[in-house]
Amino acid sequence: MTHILVAVAWPYANGPRHIGHIAGFAVPSDIFARYQRMRGNDVLMVSGTDEHGTPILVQAEKEKMSPEELSLKYHEVITEDLKDLGMSYDIFTRTRTATHREAVQELFKAALKNGYVFLSEQKVAISPSTGRTLPDRYIEGTCPFCGAKDARGDQCDECGKELDPTDLLNPRSKIDGSVPLFTSKEHYFLDLPALKTYLEEWLDGCRGWRGPVMAFAKSLLKDIRPRAITRDIDWGVPLPEGPFGSDPSKRFYVWFDALVGYLSSCLEWSQREGRQGAWEKWWKEGAESYYFMGKDNITFHTEIWPAILMASSGVKAGDRPSRFGKLSLPSKVVASGFMTMKGAKFSSSRGVVVYLRDLLKVCQPDAIRYFIASSGPEKEDADFSFEELERKVNGELVASWGNLVNRVCTLIHKNWGKIPDPGALDPRGEDLLKLTLEGFEEVGGLIGENRLHEALSKIMRLAGEANRYLSDTEPWKKGEEEKKRILFAAAQGVCDINVMLSPFLPFSSPEVFSLLGIPSSPSLPKIRTVREGGEEWSEICGPYECPAWGRREIVPGSEVPKPRPIFKKFEAESEA
Ligand code: MF3
Ligand code: ZN
Repeated sequence: MTHILVAVAWPYANGPRHIGHIAGFAVPSDIFARYQRMRGNDVLMVSGTDEHGTPILVQAEKEKMSPEELSLKYHEVITEDLKDLGMSYDIFTRTRTATHREAVQELFKAALKNGYVFLSEQKVAISPSTGRTLPDRYIEGTCPFCGAKDARGDQCDECGKELDPTDLLNPRSKIDGSVPLFTSKEHYFLDLPALKTYLEEWLDGCRGWRGPVMAFAKSLLKDIRPRAITRDIDWGVPLPEGPFGSDPSKRFYVWFDALVGYLSSCLEWSQREGRQGAWEKWWKEGAESYYFMGKDNITFHTEIWPAILMASSGVKAGDRPSRFGKLSLPSKVVASGFMTMKGAKFSSSRGVVVYLRDLLKVCQPDAIRYFIASSGPEKEDADFSFEELERKVNGELVASWGNLVNRVCTLIHKNWGKIPDPGALDPRGEDLLKLTLEGFEEVGGLIGENRLHEALSKIMRLAGEANRYLSDTEPWKKGEEEKKRILFAAAQGVCDINVMLSPFLPFSSPEVFSLLGIPSSPSLPKIRTVREGGEEWSEICGPYECPAWGRREIVPGSEVPKPRPIFKKFEAESEA
């Protein structure tokens, strides 16, 4: 049994989640976490909303709300969205908690003491009309690396490169389009070049990453430079008091803050459990950690976060770890491609968007999960269309899997009302069950490597085999004893496939178990209410009980209730 941290990217609390987000961080991480639990590993799956930074400020201005109100509003919306998708977080919290603020400050102090943080001048953009600074998303321009027109002051989403406002060509203020002025301000910098060789060593020791993600991470090391980790805004985690002074006009850069969420959410989870030190098992030697995100987040997870961990844990003689001790570096950064629509990136601001909430009104959560796992962006970008959604859901999930379950369970229910006692199996039945039994290893291996497209097509091939077995043997035409043998084998095959589908389909797989006479209740996220700092908010929590990965024997004599259709067809017309 291994301690496995499933660290899921923190969505900005600046709007509801769309299918692009869900395909990037959500569905792939949940399937992985559920599978690892089924393998008997000790999984801790954490995340929360990212409530600071200019994305929140820009949206708050648009909606004429305070950033506090806005981020709370969308924290609630996002929490509900992710719960309804069945995301099995052990904790889904937020970045405006005291635990989080203290963790950010603690790691900063340790990094500063170890000499990996220094003060220096940074050129910052100023709005000529208001005199206010224009950090990060307040400023846009052309990317000097790839030529994308809508790069932002901190990052280009197109090529994934991290930027400084001065890097942008043709910079302009996002507020009024004016050309910013530049001035120098004192800021704290993370000394990334000082950690370069350690980052290199860590990457060289990592195994099993997707090729392009590793290549991108290594390419970042080539032009590594110090990065400012503070900003001239009043929204964010404040700098700690200390001998080095605190500066009330500055806040931590949102990424320095949000990344620490992976640690602070584990601390918060320990507190909720009433076991203060419990988090350590997922952060110390021997534990594994998997980070899930869209590809625009790779830089932050393969360079900035490991650097923060190294700087605050210590890497060389004389370094001292923070009060959290030496923390483990990521085992694997799992980044997905982008989901596009008619070739364009999903974007709420440009109206190229399908919100999860809207899709949930016309499509079962398991169907959405199935679609993303089979056709979503895995290694490459993938295009979303309602036609493809319809083809996958109706043609595969309903027609192939749903029908198989329904055929087998209806026949058993009508004939006996319980799982029949087959005596010995016929050779074709034996063959089918050999195939499904062998499937566990192959499918499990694929899910463990985050190859969900292949895992699902293997599972659906097994469902095809089971369907063929029924059509070929035609149990409805056979005598009692032969009928029992055939339907018993078919039911065990369905049960095996259902175990394999459990990480993908957490809502419907327990229903299928129940139809096979195996009592089972769904393992779905719950919501609890938390009160802190005069606010009340929702948090996703477990616990989760998952079936074991491997064959679950169906038992002759167990009651088989009258099946009702489990999967609903999706009609594209009703949506488009
Ligand atoms: N909020 C960021 C985004 O949506 C992701 C932050 S991941 C974190 O791109 F873990 F660092 F918070
Ligand atoms: Zn670019």
